[in-house]
Parts: sequence; structure tokens; C-alpha cells
Amino acid sequence: MKTFVKFMLITSVGVALVGVVVHEVSPQYMTAVMSSPSVRGVTLAVHNLIRRLYPTPSPVEPKTIKKKRERLFTPEELRKYDGQAGNKGPYLAVLGSVYNVKKGKKHYGPGGGYEFFSGRDASRAFVTGDFTEAGLIDDITGLTSVDYIGLDEWVKFYKSDYKFVGKLIGRYYDETGKATSYYYDAQRWITEAYRHKEDENQEKKMFPPCNSEWSPESGARVWCTSRSGGVERDWEGVPRKLFSPGQSKPRCACVKSLGPPSHDPKRVPHDNRGDLDHPNIEEYPGCPPDQLTCLVKEE
Ligand code: HEM
Repeated sequence: MKTFVKFMLITSVGVALVGVVVHEVSPQYMTAVMSSPSVRGVTLAVHNLIRRLYPTPSPVEPKTIKKKRERLFTPEELRKYDGQAGNKGPYLAVLGSVYNVKKGKKHYGPGGGYEFFSGRDASRAFVTGDFTEAGLIDDITGLTSVDYIGLDEWVKFYKSDYKFVGKLIGRYYDETGKATSYYYDAQRWITEAYRHKEDENQEKKMFPPCNSEWSPESGARVWCTSRSGGVERDWEGVPRKLFSPGQSKPRCACVKSLGPPSHDPKRVPHDNRGDLDHPNIEEYPGCPPDQLTCLVKEE
């Protein structure tokens, strides 16, 4: 466990350093790197870790807190808050909520790695990493579940680390400050994303991913252990193709086959069927049903 914690710390510090370098090099390079969904997943993890390790200190609270009326910004007004020399701010908006990000000027001010977020609502780019003008937009339609969760993490981050100063009139709020129907759509997409993640976690527990390897001589091999897929359990299971709803391709899953422990490590008993009769699973062609490891032919 200690080794695991050490590994995670070293990896995260490494990734964070790469991030600093990448940010300073060029937004265009970031845009290209971030087009990969797996990099987007890692980015989410990196920023969550940074937020946990280095929470942004809050400014000293004034003695008397005056409750100010929440301000409404037009896009043109917000544009003036880009933090550039002679201008106000920087302020930025996420899902139509405007935050004063002055205390993060090194990121959002002139020359900062994220200055392009200032003076506008570029919600979509927070998760796509597309920092071109075409990508720096507030339309978040059609993102993946991972992206919606990532975006919600950014919303939580700005709420807790920066001062909310008002609402942006446009996609998320109307000119009276009332939430638009798009705002409610966005909230629904985020809620559905969390639900989807929960379903995936349940499925991963029931059908943990297999170990796999590939060699030019024997091709792909899949096999199950009691820790495969990062799911610790007291059973190993047998490899099967799992067809998950909404996925175009099956994946290899370890499927529980209950029964007394076998004395032959390569065999599992098949007197109790466990989950072997689940309708979404299929045997690998040419692999005996009770085999713990299968050679998989390309399809
Ligand atoms: C979708 C792409 C990305 C977006 C939208 C993004 C956004 C941001 C933002 C807004 C901040 C400033 C947060 C604050 O106010 O404190 C930040 C900081 C940071 N990001 Fe990113 N980032 C992205 C990709 C990456 C990648 C790929 C890495 C590393 C592999 C990374 C590593 C970091 C680090 C280390 C910091 C802290 C820098 C410091 O405190 O000096 N970021 N990021």
C-alpha cells in the first residue's frame, strides 16, 4: 500500500511538471494533446489532485460582509474584464456564472497559461482543451459523460476558490437573471453523467476487466486474477466477452463462477453457474468454458 501511495505521488508530481511545461509552451500544443479522450481523463485526475494538494488560499474576509446585489453582465461587458493592461478583471464565466479570478492572475492575466479564459464563458474548452477561438465557446452540447463530470469539477472549483460576482446574460441566463431552459438541460446532462458513472462502477464490480497482453507470436491473451481490472475480490472468474449497453465493441470481463475451490489452478469447477448465464456475455471462440486464460483471435 505504501509503495502504491509513493508511486501515485511520484507519478502525479511528474505529470504536474509536464503540465506546467506544456502550459507555458503553447495553447495550440495543449489543444492537440487534449483531443485524446484518455488524456482528458488523466487531466481531470491531475487537476483534482492539484486542487486537493494546493487549495487556493481565500482572500481575508472583510469584517462586515455587505450582501451585494448579484450583477448581470452582457457578453460585451464581460469582455472588458479580460485582465489585460488598462482593463478590469480578470473575470471569467463557467456555465453562465461569473467569477472574479484576480487572485489567480498568474494563470488568467497577461502572459498566463490560461489567459484565454478571461472575459468570456468558454465552458466547453475546460474539458475539450480546444483553446482555439472555435473551441473557446459556452455550448456544451454532445460531450461525453467523463467531460460533463470534468466540467462539474471545474464549476465546483470556481465556486469554492473564487468569488462569484454575477451572471452572464446569454445561453444560461436571460436578461432578468432567470435560468434558461439550456441551463436546465446542462444540469440534466451532468446528473445523467454521474448516474452513468455509477452504473459503470456497478458493472465493473460485477464484471471486472481481464488482464491482457499481446505478443507477435501468440497474439492477444486475456486472463483473470483476483485483482484484475483493479477490482480486489475473493474470486478470479473466467474470461468472457461482455457486451455492455451503449458500447459498440465487447470487452473482456472476468465472470464469477461459484463453486468449491478447484485444486487445478488452470481449471474452475462448473457445477455452479454463478453469473455465467448473464445475457450480455459470450464465450471466446476456441477457448474451453472453464479455462482461466484465453487466446483471443482478432475479429
Ligand atoms: C483541458 C485541458 C486543460 C485545462 C482546461 C486546464 C485548466 C487549468 C486551469 C484553469 C488552471 C488554473 C487553476 C487555478 O485557477 O488555480 C490550471 C492549472 C494547472 N494545470 Fe491545467 N488545464 C488543462 C490541461 C492540463 C494538463 C494536460 C496538465 C498536466 C499534464 C495540467 C496541469 C496543470 C497544473 C500543474 C496546474 C497548476 C499550475 C500552477 O499552479 O502553477 N493542465 N489548469
